[in-house]
Parts: sequence; structure tokens; C-alpha cells
Amino acid sequence: MVNEQMRENWNAGAAGWVENEAIFDAVFAPVTAAVLKAAEVEPGHRMLDVGCGSGTLLAAGTGAGASAVGVDISEVMAEAARRRVPEADVIVADAQVTDLLEAVPGKRFDRVVSRFGVMFFDDPVAAFANIRRACEPGARMVFDCWRTEEENPVFTAGSSVILERLEPQPEPSDLNAPGPTAFADADRLASLLSDAGWESIGIAPFDFECDYGIGGGDGVEERLASILGSGVGRLAKERLQPELGPEGWEALLDEVRAELRGHLVDGVVKFPGATWLVTATNP
Ligand SMILES: C[S@@+](CC[C@H](N)C(=O)[O-])C[C@H]1O[C@@H](n2cnc3c(N)ncnc32)[C@H](O)[C@@H]1O
Repeated sequence: MVNEQMRENWNAGAAGWVENEAIFDAVFAPVTAAVLKAAEVEPGHRMLDVGCGSGTLLAAGTGAGASAVGVDISEVMAEAARRRVPEADVIVADAQVTDLLEAVPGKRFDRVVSRFGVMFFDDPVAAFANIRRACEPGARMVFDCWRTEEENPVFTAGSSVILERLEPQPEPSDLNAPGPTAFADADRLASLLSDAGWESIGIAPFDFECDYGIGGGDGVEERLASILGSGVGRLAKERLQPELGPEGWEALLDEVRAELRGHLVDGVVKFPGATWLVTATNP
């Protein structure tokens, strides 16, 4: 089955994401706002959120008067989205291969949106072509995706302390392999979208501040919580926590906190965030 590895990863990782949903929503709020502004969702639109996760954009879409449909490969994510946005239709499905109009009958989509939900396909051309087939002529797609890991300290700050202790360390993946930074190469991304039949493709840098200082704190605990909820945190809990015991584990967490304090900007954990804001039209 295609995208099997990602299905497993996201089913395993969804609980950590949902648990920290409020932190992600605060840190990624500028991205959410940028996607929504470019999408210009209007009352009466049918909007598809690809890789909808726990439903941030679905909530915004229904709030704007659209009829919102979420597709996510992870059952746990979809359940969370249904709880959060009961008025949206949310399906557990692989957006690369599922006939979306058959799965959620209704009119063709006027808008496709995604916040960090489209970089995980085994075959991105097949996926973007499949999504396009469910769209109205003239429909607009807007998504945001990460640029390189080097430009985004959010991938390593704090978690590098844990990674160094994990034996064997997770393999670094091929730059274009499915994963958060799969679309860092804008020329490659433009070709993929064009090969999938999309037109008027725009790929513009969108830079923002990943600001963990939620509610006026220094953001250290928020950043730590999001690391522990991620894949690295999961591996650490499985492999290191039993081996280190309660005191050793707390000592490791203190090391992470100390590393994070090295990233304080004006007393708060903040990193530059480097993404592409992508727009495209179905001819
Ligand atoms: C980084 S999370 C982003 C979640 C959400 N968009 C947000 O911003 O909170 C990526 C999401 O894409 C979903 N996903 C990955 N591969 C997918 C696929 N082939 N079809 C549908 N969803 C997929 C994952 O299950 C996960 O919920």
C-alpha cells in the first residue's frame, strides 16, 4: 500500500501533535493567517484541507462560511478534527489515491488549503493530480511548507540534545524524501505541481517567527513539550526513559531546557521560520 510508512508514523505521532495542538497553533499562527489570506475562502465555497491534522484550518474555513472537508491519513488526527470542528466532514484517507468526491459526495472543491500537510506523499505528482481532479475549474490551492532544515532551527533546537543520546540515531533521509522538508527545493516543487496539471503556480518565501513565549512565559516548557510530543520525543520515551530511570530522565530534560535557554531572544525561545507559501490554480 502507498504511503504506508507515513500512515504508521502519523498514527504513532498524532497523539503528541493533538496533545500540543494549542502550542502548535500559537507558534504557527502567522502561517495559518498567511494561508487563509491567500486562499480568500468565502461563504458558499467548498474547501478541502489536505492533511488536516486536528483541524485548525477546518475551523477557520467553517468560520468563514465555507463547507469544509478534511482529509487525513491518521485516524487519531481525524478524530481530533471531528471533535474540534463537528460541522466539517472529516475522512480518514490517503489524499494521494482516494477518490475524494466519491468519499465525500458533493460539489467539486473551490479551494484546497493545507498547513504543513502535503509534504508526505510517496508520489507527489500523483497526489496533487488526484486532489486537482476533485476541484472546480479555476479552483485555487494554497499551502505552506517548510524550506530547508538548515534555515529552520525549529527542527533541531533542544531535540539535538536527545538525538545525540539515541543509539542508533535515526537515519538522515534523502533531501527530497517524503517528510517535512521534502519541498524545500522550489524548482522541484514547481515542476511537481505543473506535472500534476496545476497552473499559475506561485512559490513565495514566507518567513515568520516561531515564538514559543505563549501567555507571557519564556517558552522553554512549551518547546520542551512539543519536542517530547514529536517523533524524537517518542523514541526517547521508549528507549531512554526506562534506561535512565526517573532521576536520569529529569537530568536529560534539564539538559534540553539549558540548551533552549541558549535560544532566548528578549527572554523568550524564538526561532526564525522559513517556509514557502504556495498558490496554484486548476485550469
Ligand atoms: C505536520 S501535520 C500538519 C497537521 C495540520 N495541517 C496542522 O497544521 O496542524 C501533517 C499531517 O498530514 C497528514 N498526512 C500525511 N500524509 C498524508 C496523506 N497521504 N494523506 C492525507 N493526510 C496525510 C498527517 O497525518 C498529519 O496530520
